[in-house]
Amino acid sequence: MNRIIVGFMGTGKTSVSKVLGRMTGLPCYDVDNWIEKKAGKSIPAIFAEEGEAGFRKRESEALKALLAQDGCILSGGGGIALREENVAMMKERGIVFCLTASPETIYRRVGKDENRPNLDGYRSPKGIRELMERREEAYQRAADVRIDTDGKSVEEVAAEILRVSGKAGNHE
Ligand code: S3P
Repeated sequence: MNRIIVGFMGTGKTSVSKVLGRMTGLPCYDVDNWIEKKAGKSIPAIFAEEGEAGFRKRESEALKALLAQDGCILSGGGGIALREENVAMMKERGIVFCLTASPETIYRRVGKDENRPNLDGYRSPKGIRELMERREEAYQRAADVRIDTDGKSVEEVAAEILRVSGKAGNHE
């Protein structure tokens, strides 16, 4: 079983997965990091040179390669749940945790981060809410478990994931 963490930009997916990796000793991978290493260029550069379609293709390939393993912690980018084929792969190969946060929290965390090209045009709490609502259905479809991160530390969120997936593991 893999533990897979998805959710909107700025919900803390990468930080939570790193802490989870430390807590469990399990191997931990960030899909965006993997894509950047394979491509030899940054995500903004991939978006600029290959468009979002090019990035999404790389994202599905990276996910497939990483999910060939078992017993890993995986954090995906904010758009990884948008493709049905990704959702199907994730559900087949693990438990999917969707982290959430309010648009205000997300704006505070990443609103001015220029390394997130898909926030362009939405860099306000109102804009973030709009983009989030547009993606909500995809996140709902992907999530086995939703975890609100507002007002929680990274350690608290990681502990919640462990509690839930520990229980799920017992039922397998
Ligand atoms: C994206 C989110 C990013 C990254 C890419 C696209 C999105 O990941 O995958 O910029 O469309 O939501 P983070 O959620 O880690 O920012």
